[in-house]
Amino acid sequence: MDESGVNIEDRVIVFDTTLRDGEQSPGAALNVDEKLEIARALEEMGVDVIEAGFPISSPGDFKAVQRIAREIRNCVICGLTRANKQDIDAAAEALKDAAYPRIHTGLGVSDIHIKYKLRTTREKALEQGVEAVKYARKFVGDVEYYAEDAGRADPEYLYQVLEAVIDAGATVVNIPDTTGYTTPDEFGALIRGIREHVPNIDRAIISVHCHNDLGMATANTLAGVLNGARQVEVTVNGIGARAGNPSLEEVVMALKTRRDIFRVDTRIDTRRIYPISRLVSQLTGIPVQPNKAIVGANAFAHSSGIHQDGVLKERTTYEIINPRDVGVPDSAIILSARSGRHGLRHRLAELGYELDDEQFEKVYQRFLLVADKKKTVDTRDLEAIVADEVQMFFEETYHLEHVQVSCGNHSIPTATVRIRGPNGEIYCDADHGTGPVDAVYRAINRVIKEPNELIEFSVQAVTEGIDAVGRVTIRIQADEPVNGDSRRVFSGHGADTDIITASAKAYMFALNRLIAARREAANARNGKTRSD
Ligand code: KIV
Ligand code: ZN
Repeated sequence: MDESGVNIEDRVIVFDTTLRDGEQSPGAALNVDEKLEIARALEEMGVDVIEAGFPISSPGDFKAVQRIAREIRNCVICGLTRANKQDIDAAAEALKDAAYPRIHTGLGVSDIHIKYKLRTTREKALEQGVEAVKYARKFVGDVEYYAEDAGRADPEYLYQVLEAVIDAGATVVNIPDTTGYTTPDEFGALIRGIREHVPNIDRAIISVHCHNDLGMATANTLAGVLNGARQVEVTVNGIGARAGNPSLEEVVMALKTRRDIFRVDTRIDTRRIYPISRLVSQLTGIPVQPNKAIVGANAFAHSSGIHQDGVLKERTTYEIINPRDVGVPDSAIILSARSGRHGLRHRLAELGYELDDEQFEKVYQRFLLVADKKKTVDTRDLEAIVADEVQMFFEETYHLEHVQVSCGNHSIPTATVRIRGPNGEIYCDADHGTGPVDAVYRAINRVIKEPNELIEFSVQAVTEGIDAVGRVTIRIQADEPVNGDSRRVFSGHGADTDIITASAKAYMFALNRLIAARREAANARNGKTRSD
């Protein structure tokens, strides 16, 4: 124990909520297979708890929690509920095959939430919370209680609630700063106050769940740890509603790099941080900003001559983290067409990609095309190729076989596309537009008649140089397949040395995803599963 009573030999439990709070980022909607892929990567990375979803919120969420509970055997699998029986029943059912199930229930503790959202009184809210914990304990031995908006609550009331829910059987008490309002000093003091004023707190683990509205989510989480919290709730790349959640990579690497201050460990294999960051970005369509700590493209780039010189003489002059320790691949290793199948397979394995023969062959054929155009292919090109060819966790209904565009300052941009349909039939069509991308999208729309609105389009060079592979990420909005009245966003990405081709691929990706989601929703309505 140190002078403030914190056990310095402790380990911090990493609770990942990428698939629940993270998925609430606008447009981050993931299908069940995509969620399972992320859950597998989280398990391999050594995350302790995976919050897999909010089972009552939709049939898709229920199914995702159920499949993750069945397949991921080395993590606690957690499902979120509100403090009522129907939600808890749904979570218990979705989690029933989990090796280590946890129900995460709770409700608001701030007066703002009690008065305006819950329209009740402090006393009744406390009673409801206690009843919810007792009910959840009938199904599972591990119940986490969230005191929503604790960051803005009266601490005295919060202490009472926590004492009561721990007596009712909560094993973890979660202290959310739901609106991202607190500062690190304040939040740390709140956690310290809980340790000092909740008499039975030694029977539960204190968890911290922060939000980034004022850019302090990571700092607040760490302040929580310094003051005795032993579970951190984080998301990969910090994705989440509004400004997001604390990012897993920042919290874990701060704990590791400044162990002298925090004096705690996690079970995370930090070399898996970069690959999972890429996977989540790919699948959610949410790019990682270049200057993002730990996983941004510039996180380990040294452009100033003085810094370059320093790093060449001794890496630690300007680097506090070895990029290899977070799995950033060595981009200096390049391949060419001459590297052959063997060389490519070896490099892909080094980068952590496990491909079956069919997937490898697809990647190899694309690799040859890129190598032919660019002569050399580096790690970033390979990542883009794998994302395009392999990381597609839905059925591809329409396949783009050919795209051709004519444009220029004195001509009308015109595009022709050839598309293979679900039964192998070939469609050919053409249209013109305000620019080449518009023309291509209109031509595709003439074949695939899925009404949607393009709401975001971005293009990025994957590597340096005029011959770089361009990566296009788009978002389209369409009628939500389950509730016809709301709209849902689908992202798509495509990479090619020709950015018009990359744009066409990205659009086809998003459209196929939309079609697959509609098919899945129709199957759910008819009681079928995807594998039926
Ligand atoms: O931010 C929050 O309060 C939450 C709870 C539901 C845990 O996400
Ligand atoms: Zn939250």
